Amino acid sequence: MERKASEMGMNRTGIKTSLVHSKKAIEGAAKAPPSSPGDASAIAKVRQEFSSEAGGLGSVPPPNLKGMAKAAVTLLKGGRATVLMDKLGQRAGFERTGVRLYEAALSKLDVFGTWDGGPSREQLEKIRQDELSHFALVKRTIEKLGGDPTALTPAADLQANMSEGVPKMLVDPRVNLLQSLDGLLTAELVDNASWELLIELARELGHQEIAEDFQRALDVEQEHLALVRAWIAAGTRLEARVGEEAAGAPA
Ligand SMILES: [Fe+2]
Ligand SMILES: [Fe+2]
Repeated sequence: MERKASEMGMNRTGIKTSLVHSKKAIEGAAKAPPSSPGDASAIAKVRQEFSSEAGGLGSVPPPNLKGMAKAAVTLLKGGRATVLMDKLGQRAGFERTGVRLYEAALSKLDVFGTWDGGPSREQLEKIRQDELSHFALVKRTIEKLGGDPTALTPAADLQANMSEGVPKMLVDPRVNLLQSLDGLLTAELVDNASWELLIELARELGHQEIAEDFQRALDVEQEHLALVRAWIAAGTRLEARVGEEAAGAPA
């Protein structure tokens, strides 16, 4: 199916679409007084008031007995196990969403097909499987530390809100496969940075074994990131007709 993002068409969003109307619009805007007095500092003040009055983004649930013993060991070293648990909850949610993102990308592949240097079904399916196994790894780790993997921790809540737009974009029927890869790029960049931080944190809190398991996950995430970047680069270059020949351009 052919649907290029860069196709030229009747886009009327810009002011230069109509010189007459743009002149009128500018004159109208200049005549209309602001709808309320003051400037942006009033908005900042309200934001500050809300921030100082509102509670935080929930809390980390207490660990079970096994977890309490482990947390006590961490505490003896001066560390706070709840920080690790908070971040593990975040990773669990994100990796689980990652599975859905690749499922959405597979649907795009079925409709639009790929291009020279673009993703294959096998590659997308492999990464989907990797994300699922990462979710399982985080779940096991949370359980090992006496936590509840079904709990929404504050960091998980934060990330879910923040990255809401990525799955939304990937399931938008107007978005083609090449465009959808931008969402995967966002996810993989976050994946990489988050695993890196988790490895450091686990190591510093004395969980060497967990740090090693997570390092293997990070190695795989680095491959994901390199692949997604290469697919986007190849597709964009083909669409722009630079470097490569026109054949095989993305739909
Ligand atoms: Fe991931
Ligand atoms: Fe990934």
